[in-house]
Amino acid sequence: MDLQTQLRQVSQTTLPQIQQTNDLKQLNQIRVSVLGKKGSITAILRGMRDLDPQERPQVGSLANKVRDEITAAIEHQRMVIEQQAMNAALAAEKIDVTLPARPLKRGVPHVINQILDDLEDLFIGMGYQVVDGYEVEDERHNFEMLNIPKNHPARDMQDTFYVKDDILLRTHMSPDEARELEAHDFSKGPLKMISPGRVYRRDTDDATHSHQFFQMEGQVIDKNITMADLKGTLEYAIHHIFGTDRQIRFRPSYFPFTEPSVEVDISCFNCDGKGCPVCKYSGWIEVLGAGMTHPNVLQAAGVDTDVYGGFAFGLGIDRFAMLKYGITDIRDFYLNDVRFLHQFKGGII
Ligand code: PHE
Repeated sequence: MDLQTQLRQVSQTTLPQIQQTNDLKQLNQIRVSVLGKKGSITAILRGMRDLDPQERPQVGSLANKVRDEITAAIEHQRMVIEQQAMNAALAAEKIDVTLPARPLKRGVPHVINQILDDLEDLFIGMGYQVVDGYEVEDERHNFEMLNIPKNHPARDMQDTFYVKDDILLRTHMSPDEARELEAHDFSKGPLKMISPGRVYRRDTDDATHSHQFFQMEGQVIDKNITMADLKGTLEYAIHHIFGTDRQIRFRPSYFPFTEPSVEVDISCFNCDGKGCPVCKYSGWIEVLGAGMTHPNVLQAAGVDTDVYGGFAFGLGIDRFAMLKYGITDIRDFYLNDVRFLHQFKGGII
């Protein structure tokens, strides 16, 4: 058989083989058996030595053609096989991007902050300024300027943590009132302020006591301020927090920094004043302390008591939150258990 026939035969048998294989190893074997050192085409080319010189170009160009055809077919098939493998892998490793993502848990403001923010908004609306004082205070502002001199028995109720002899963790928000009284320029108008913040006392923690809690105090000092102004203001705030059905009453009380002093009660929201366990069968619930600012407090801050006077009040934010939401243990506010905190979604959803 002459070389050209041999070449055609190789081409005819090899090309279908290449197309039929779908295995890279097998494809490589075909390549070696045809184009390799000991391959059929290589052998044919070697045979060209024995040809007549006139025949060589023809055979040579056919050999090149066949070799190129086979090389191209192998290359093509290799791509086909690789593409198949890729498609199979893609199908097998498919990721379902339509799977819903895990929902993001959205936080809520702490219930104490919700009440604070709410009250701040209310008082800002009435023209009050919000004051931010110091958690670490001096005795002068926490006690002395508030008409609680050294050795006064009222200090017992507000024993606290001392940082130094005369530096302590504030026991109420009243020191802010003393500071504002000292700083205020009454020629520019009345003083109307609230001061919300964290206070400390040397209390044993139980369901209704905590060594730290939140208070908001307020103070209005101007000419001709009366107890009616105090009552109207507190009624407005209480209606805002506890609803307009609540009645309020003033009961005489004692605070060193106010005279007269009152405890403020609201009619029980549970029984509407009939008497139940929530109000201890009295029909009333005590919610805050207040009074007309004591002249000694004004004078200690250099305010002319012949011209100016006013009122002050102090309420416990924790107590408000407990009453509003029926919370029975004050410690829940400070344990940071999200199951507890998430119940108070407030205005935000
Ligand atoms: N400072 C008082 C307290 O912490 C609360 C209060 C403030 C009472 C203002 C009357 C007037 O107990």
